[in-house]
Amino acid sequence: MAKIEDLIAQIPDERLKKAIVAEVRELKKNKKFGLVFEEHLPETVRLPKMPVKEGELVAKKRESGNELWRVKSIRKGIATLEKAIEGYPKPSEDGIQAPVAELVVVRSFGDPIYPALMPVDRVERGGPDKPWHMLINADNFHALQLLLYAYEGKVDAIYIDPPYNSGARDWKYNNDYVDKSDSFRHSKWLSMMKKRLLLAKRLLRKDGVLIITIDENELHHLGVLLESLFPNSLRHMVTIVINPKGAGKKNFARTEEHALFCVPNNGQSLVNANFIKDLSRVGLTQELLQEEEDEELERNDVSAADEPLELPHDLTPDDLPFPIEELDQWELRHARRRGNESSYRHQRKNQFYPIYIDVKTHTVEDIGDSIPLDEEPSFKKKNGFTPVWPIDKEGNQRCWRFVPSSMRSLLDDGRLVVGRQDSVTGRWTLNYWVLKNKTTKVKTVWWNTRHDAGTHGTSMLHKILGRRDAFPFPKSLYAVRDTLLTVVGDKPNALILDFFAGSGTTLHATALINAQLGGSRRCILVSYNEPGEKAAKKLHKQGFFLGDPAFEAVGVSESVTWPRIKFVTNGKRDDGTVLKGTYIDLDGDPKGLRWADGFDENLEYFRLDFLDPDEVARGDSFKAIVPILWMVAACRGEREDSKGSTPWFIPKHSPFAVLIQEKQFRAFREKLAERKDIEWVFLITDSEENFSQMRRTLGRKYECHQLYKSYLENFRINTQDALKG
Ligand SMILES: C[S@@+](CC[C@H](N)C(=O)[O-])C[C@H]1O[C@@H](n2cnc3c(N)ncnc32)[C@H](O)[C@@H]1O
Repeated sequence: MAKIEDLIAQIPDERLKKAIVAEVRELKKNKKFGLVFEEHLPETVRLPKMPVKEGELVAKKRESGNELWRVKSIRKGIATLEKAIEGYPKPSEDGIQAPVAELVVVRSFGDPIYPALMPVDRVERGGPDKPWHMLINADNFHALQLLLYAYEGKVDAIYIDPPYNSGARDWKYNNDYVDKSDSFRHSKWLSMMKKRLLLAKRLLRKDGVLIITIDENELHHLGVLLESLFPNSLRHMVTIVINPKGAGKKNFARTEEHALFCVPNNGQSLVNANFIKDLSRVGLTQELLQEEEDEELERNDVSAADEPLELPHDLTPDDLPFPIEELDQWELRHARRRGNESSYRHQRKNQFYPIYIDVKTHTVEDIGDSIPLDEEPSFKKKNGFTPVWPIDKEGNQRCWRFVPSSMRSLLDDGRLVVGRQDSVTGRWTLNYWVLKNKTTKVKTVWWNTRHDAGTHGTSMLHKILGRRDAFPFPKSLYAVRDTLLTVVGDKPNALILDFFAGSGTTLHATALINAQLGGSRRCILVSYNEPGEKAAKKLHKQGFFLGDPAFEAVGVSESVTWPRIKFVTNGKRDDGTVLKGTYIDLDGDPKGLRWADGFDENLEYFRLDFLDPDEVARGDSFKAIVPILWMVAACRGEREDSKGSTPWFIPKHSPFAVLIQEKQFRAFREKLAERKDIEWVFLITDSEENFSQMRRTLGRKYECHQLYKSYLENFRINTQDALKG
């Protein structure tokens, strides 16, 4: 018996005992298993480019941490400050003065800000047909929100390698390094991760996969967090030996870290081992695994053979829920269960319900609810649509393969289709599209020398950048490549995101996969520009702070991420030094591509800046949002600038168009007709009604977006909504 029950049993007063028992019962109902942490720790961001004005929340540049002030007034470059947080600092410190030059504007997460992508540098080596990879220098909380505007539900794989929170001051929370002595260390980390993962989840496609690498410091906390954030995903853990020699001061020498995979549980395998050619080397097995249990039954079932899978009409590309080129990767399956076991109504009572079809257009229109076992199915039409029940030729009541909610998501995905009509019974069959079974599976422990982070991470980075200790603990290029291969090896146009980019290994690995397998996989990296603690301290002493060019120059994205991806793409450093080395091939052969050959890829580097809408002239604000529109249009074609002073803007090389002067809609349409490649159209109007009307006129050919005339308002981020995820 639990302790509480023991104690209750000792209460002599029966009435009191009964009352307490009832209360405890209620309390137990509310108690749920899960992670308990202080998730309301506020997070702030410093915005060095924003002007310090009266009323602004500020911090002192020289101070680390989160001591905040409100600017009461400014006179001759000196600001008078008052405490910004109740009770702290002490009221007596109110009215203190500080030079404006020593202050930096701060925003709490939840206070809106206006982002703009500022181009910094680019590399063009992939030719006009390859989309552009991006590096965004920003705090990822802000970058993720901006990315949501462009890529909600569009990302195939997110690979992140967040700070491991080892207590070694390896990351910052509210402008302060988190160390071992911080009693909120784990809460801060979980709170930081949760905010970002909630946004990341929205970016993933329905079949998109999230991969997070981690070591023992936060592995278990992260596992429980993922369980609560991704309850419908399968969670797998791959252990990768990254340091065969072992590290650690006491008891054990750790050799491994882990990659947690969150894979949608949609009835099909999304991990494909076939793209890692040297299967035995990375611990894969060729062994064919059993298919789903009821598929086995189906093969033994004579009645299934009588009902070949057939569509009632010729297929056109419009009928398919995937591009026609991928047809050979998909197959049709019966939507009704077959076989002798687990396929009858009484065995799966929630899987007997009507599916409504339009018999003229041969389309599935609606999914009904399961009916109780004692209720007979109704064959009455609903809204003109014919109900189809899972009843076989002999009239036996069977069941559908899935419960109504799963069937509805198949319908939403366009994967549920009408099959043929039985000429005798008049009954329709229903089928669904499924990716062909991937029978080879990837084992969960990888032990291969090419995953050694020392040789293929730290030393490789040294050879690329030409300097030691540029970045702590970069991943082995091949560990990242092999991890990505499992989920995007068979997706030549996959969109991959890494928002804890560090030294940029993920983009390097993406380019290598494209080079080794062919394809135009695209990678977006986000990395903030915090330098390491030692370098930052030195610069602070010299009077340089975040936002100052001298400080920014030594930050991670500026001094490591961008140079690394630029040099490996060009095959040489900026000073002309040719990179010496060879990539290990997919079959494990170290005689593969030469580093010096670089990659046929296009890259663009942006800094995420925050604009003050009051200070930005109209033309400048249009110019500031154009890169965001280009990003929405899948970063295709060389990016062009515009100040928005013409009636419309249709860049020569990118597949998007912007109507700037609403009155010119008719002429704009004519222009659009001349450009067959346009897929995205942005219509600038403050009227929802006009937008809907223009959108209707343009038809379904384009993905249309409404933009408000005060351009920056369109991309306002950091609002309370973002915190809800
Ligand atoms: C463990 S490292 C990633 C290493 C990377 N996988 C590699 O191979 O080089 C984590 C990175 O996330 C960055 N980071 C931490 N917090 C961030 C944030 N809020 N926004 C953007 N980047 C952040 C750190 O600067 C660090 O470079």
